[in-house]
Amino acid sequence: MPRARLTIDPDFTLAPVPPRLFGSFVEHMGRCVYTGIFEPGHPKADEDGLRTDVLDLVRELGPTVVRYPGGNFVSGYEWEDGVGPREQRPRRLDRAWRSIETNQFGLAEFDRWARRAGAEPMMALNLGTRGVQEACDLLEYANHPGGTKFSDLRRAHGSAEPFDVRLWCLGNEMDGPWQTGHKTAAEYGRLAAETARAMRQVDPTVELVACGSSSRAMPTFGEWERVVLEETYDQVEHVSAHAYYEERESLGTGDFLASAVDMDAFIESVVATADAVRARGRHTKTIDISFDEWNVWYQDRWRSTPRARGEGGWEVAPRVIEDEYTITDAVVVGTLLNSLLRHGDRVTVACQAQLVNVIGLLRSEPGGPAWKQTIAHPFEQVRRRATGQILAVRTRSDRYETSQFGDVDVVDASGTWDEDSGTVSLFLVNRDLAEAADVEVGLAGFADARVAHAAVLAAGPGQDRHTANTEADPDAVRLRPLEGVAVDGRTARLSLPPLSWAVVQLSARRA
Ligand code: AHR
Repeated sequence: MPRARLTIDPDFTLAPVPPRLFGSFVEHMGRCVYTGIFEPGHPKADEDGLRTDVLDLVRELGPTVVRYPGGNFVSGYEWEDGVGPREQRPRRLDRAWRSIETNQFGLAEFDRWARRAGAEPMMALNLGTRGVQEACDLLEYANHPGGTKFSDLRRAHGSAEPFDVRLWCLGNEMDGPWQTGHKTAAEYGRLAAETARAMRQVDPTVELVACGSSSRAMPTFGEWERVVLEETYDQVEHVSAHAYYEERESLGTGDFLASAVDMDAFIESVVATADAVRARGRHTKTIDISFDEWNVWYQDRWRSTPRARGEGGWEVAPRVIEDEYTITDAVVVGTLLNSLLRHGDRVTVACQAQLVNVIGLLRSEPGGPAWKQTIAHPFEQVRRRATGQILAVRTRSDRYETSQFGDVDVVDASGTWDEDSGTVSLFLVNRDLAEAADVEVGLAGFADARVAHAAVLAAGPGQDRHTANTEADPDAVRLRPLEGVAVDGRTARLSLPPLSWAVVQLSARRA
């Protein structure tokens, strides 16, 4: 008996895969910027100090959009500190992460890096300590062609062409009491609406993201979105969502593996709230979600550090939350990607947080090598192989019990159908720690299906679920061929190893 039966049909699709679903995040935090993407003097740094070894890996991952410069950092940031001649830029205290910010990397450097990485920039604004005027000044500096104070300043700084940033976040996690300049929903909603209105006067083509909740567990969750959207509905295109998951001993691995159930519920609740505001306000447009921070993050570990308690010295680029990711974490990231793809009709921007070193897809050492963490593999594969239309995958799976989410599917899946290339892509997870999962895929509506590609991430010989990629063994966890995938008429059959993430591509045509 199969443990799961999936049904897919080319007539049952949700929406085109949103290109911005595969974004990432670069914050001035720890070593994400300094000794992450930027390290003048590194043997592989280019003339701008950008690490080309890291850039090569970033290009392999292919994030479509990268959010910058924070995060909590942005709520105390003065963007003017990071532009102009480098030797004149001030060193400042970054209160958010108790670090020294040298400002040797700023807007122009990020623009140059993002162009080389092939990613669209997404800028976050400081609505913690600053407001409408500073947001408009920054927008004028970034997007106005010339002939005004800030656009001419950009030109004087050596960037004749505008940076042309389309996507802007109106602050960061303004619902969180930890945020510099934390506000109530009503206070923030008014400020966000006024900032948005003024920004559109400067550049009517910008796309704006209002802050939603920094987690579904926030006491203000739901009400925050309602109040903020009541204020900003006509002024913004997106409302944000942030979520981090970790394995907690008290709850067990099964609950951690079911994290995507929380993400599904989070997304569906925000959609419901946004649509209720639409109905109540008799609006016609739809607000989408920008899930602009998501990942596995061992926050309990971070909270026990002196820096998190506001103790210890101020340093430049300290090692902060450099979580080393395991096979288990990669499988969970695979399910989070499934959740985002399943909701790609309404989640149209998503940023995995963060790109390098700080809870990073990638790791790099100062003066040393760079490598991919385990979680980079599902990200890269889904980014590359999810094309065309999102399939409404019908999943009937054996279930297991969790403490937080009730019964949860053992097999989790998402998929896409690319009619142009005739490719079905399925992204599959087996949450069972001990047993393989036999999966049957009903291919109703498809004809001439053949296996084109099948790969799996799971513990290899001599490994267990805690195995990670390290400086000494950067390639320990990688994709291996998934053997034994078979298609017989309109049914595909495969077996997923215990605790695994897999991608299966079939070439097919519409029947
Ligand atoms: O990504 C790390 C931090 O998590 C960000 O700075 C903040 O926005 C969130 O709480």
